[in-house]
Amino acid sequence: MHLKGKSAIVTGASSGIGAEFSKALTEKGCRVYGLARREERLEDLRSRLGDLFVPVVMDVNDYESVEEWVGKTFSGEHVPDILLNNAGLGLFGAVDQLPPEDWDLMVQTNLTSIFRLTRLVTPLMKDSDGVNHIVNIASVAGLIGNPNISGYNATKFAVRGFSESLMKELRNFRIKVTCIYPGSIATEFFEDHGGTHPNMLKGEDVANTLIHILETPDNFLIDEITVRPLIPKPPDK
Ligand SMILES: NC(=O)c1ccc[n+]([C@@H]2O[C@H](COP(=O)([O-])OP(=O)(O)OC[C@H]3O[C@@H](n4cnc5c(N)ncnc54)[C@H](OP(=O)(O)O)[C@@H]3O)[C@@H](O)[C@H]2O)c1
Repeated sequence: MHLKGKSAIVTGASSGIGAEFSKALTEKGCRVYGLARREERLEDLRSRLGDLFVPVVMDVNDYESVEEWVGKTFSGEHVPDILLNNAGLGLFGAVDQLPPEDWDLMVQTNLTSIFRLTRLVTPLMKDSDGVNHIVNIASVAGLIGNPNISGYNATKFAVRGFSESLMKELRNFRIKVTCIYPGSIATEFFEDHGGTHPNMLKGEDVANTLIHILETPDNFLIDEITVRPLIPKPPDK
C-alpha cells in the first residue's frame, strides 16, 4: 500500500507505540485518526505531527460512542484504509490476587474493543475497491504463558486466535490482517511493572516494522511477526 493520501484509525494513540505509529504514518502522508482518552496527550501530538493527525478523545470501551464516531466519520466515500488495534493494558498479579475487575478491564480493552471496532470497520473495507489492512497488536504474551500475567496472557492469546481467523476470513475481500507480537518495549506500559531498562525495544523501531508491513505489495501479506530485543536485559541485572 502506498501510504500517502490514505487514512488510518490508530487506537491508543496518546502514548507509547500508538504515538510512534501515528508519527510514522503521518510522516508518510497518511491521515491518522488517533483514539485515546487523554485529550492533552492527543492535542500535544497534533501540535507536533500537524493536521494529518486527528485527535479523537474516546474510550474504546464506550461502544456507543465508538459506533457513533465511526458512523459519522466514515462512509462508502471515505473508508479507513488501515485499522490499527493497539490500545491495551496489562494488570499483573498472582491469579488469586488478581481482582476480577482487573480481569474484566483487560478482556474489554485488549480483546472486546478490538472485536467491536473491527466489526464496524470491516463492512466499509469489504465494499471498497482497494486493498485495506487491519493490524492487531498482541504481544509475546500472546505466544508464551508466564506466571503472574494470566489475565494479560489470556487476552493476548485471544487476540492471536481472533487475528488468525480474521486473516483467513477477510483475505478474499482484499483485506489484509496482521498480528504483531512484540517483546518488551520502553513505554509507559512498564511504569507499574518495574520500569524500563536500556535493552528494551524502542517504539520507533517497532513503528518502522509496521510501515514495512503496510507498504508491502498488494498480493504480499505478512500475517504474523514477532519482534524482540536481541538481549532482553543486561546480562548482569
Ligand atoms: N510495552 C510493551 O512492552 C508491549 C509489548 C507487547 C505488546 N504491547 C502492547 O502494545 C499496546 C500499546 O502499549 P504501549 O506499550 O504503547 O503502552 P502505553 O504507553 O501504556 O499505551 C497504551 C495506550 O492505550 C490507550 N488506552 C488504554 N486503555 C484505553 C481505553 N479504554 N480507551 C482508549 N485508549 C486506551 C492509552 O491511552 P489513554 O490512557 O490516553 O486512553 C495509551 O495510548 C498494548 O496493546 C500493549 O499490550 C506492549
